[in-house]
Amino acid sequence: MSIQQQTKEAVQYIQSNISVVPSTGLVLGSGLGVLADEIKSPVVLKYEDIPGFPVSTVEGHAGQLVFGELEGMQVAAMQGRFHYYEGYSLQEVTFPIRVMNALGVKRLLVTNAAGGVNHDFEPGDLMIIDDHINWLGANPLIGENDAELGPRFPDMSSAYSKGLAKIADEAALSLNIRIQRGTYMANTGPAYETPAEVRMARVLGADAVGMSTVPEVIVAVHGGMEVLGISCISNLAAGILDQPLSHDEVMDTTSKVQEDFLRLMKETLRRIARE
Ligand code: 6GU
Repeated sequence: MSIQQQTKEAVQYIQSNISVVPSTGLVLGSGLGVLADEIKSPVVLKYEDIPGFPVSTVEGHAGQLVFGELEGMQVAAMQGRFHYYEGYSLQEVTFPIRVMNALGVKRLLVTNAAGGVNHDFEPGDLMIIDDHINWLGANPLIGENDAELGPRFPDMSSAYSKGLAKIADEAALSLNIRIQRGTYMANTGPAYETPAEVRMARVLGADAVGMSTVPEVIVAVHGGMEVLGISCISNLAAGILDQPLSHDEVMDTTSKVQEDFLRLMKETLRRIARE
């Protein structure tokens, strides 16, 4: 079945369960799904019940779409996402973005846990993503292009909206939350980088490394969506500190910055709603 046909079926299923069109999509990364718990009178659809949706396998990911109102915005929140390292194709990883786009979502707020590469970063920092480096060795748009979805050669020169980044920056300032800005590099994982790979990432211009976000952003831009990306720097990447990396540390730090993350996201949404 074609992606368009699959998307149509997912959209039909979702529309038969919701009454309001969401304007804003949220992709909530490892340990950051708590934001969806704040949605008022939520409609919760499990991925396994939505036609065409893959099922997520990673700890710390709930695997459901949550619809409803958050800070004056109608949102569609992905509580848990799909990763390339789980064995999904990039088409599968980005299927929910296509579905959100078809539902009428105009703007996407993407979040993740990432390793800090920039020497000025500390675990627990939040970073507005200004730009990305696709180091996956693949692109979700490879294959036949459907001109109805977007252009064959999408312009990526302003993939991350300067306007949305400014709003997030001002939101952080107003809340007294330390905020970084930088370039996010996506590696496939699931192995973390070696110290040499982290040095390479830094030389190439990366401030943070992760295993997600880039495919979703490419598809969002292809579909004409405005994008804001926020990384939670859960740990410093390999070779910076003399200590091993662990997923437990990632989850531990994200749970510690959860409060600031929630405050930042909610204030940002409030400010977007006011525009
Ligand atoms: Cl150090 N690397 C990658 N690729 N993803 C991460 C990470 C590091 N820390 C959290 N997520």
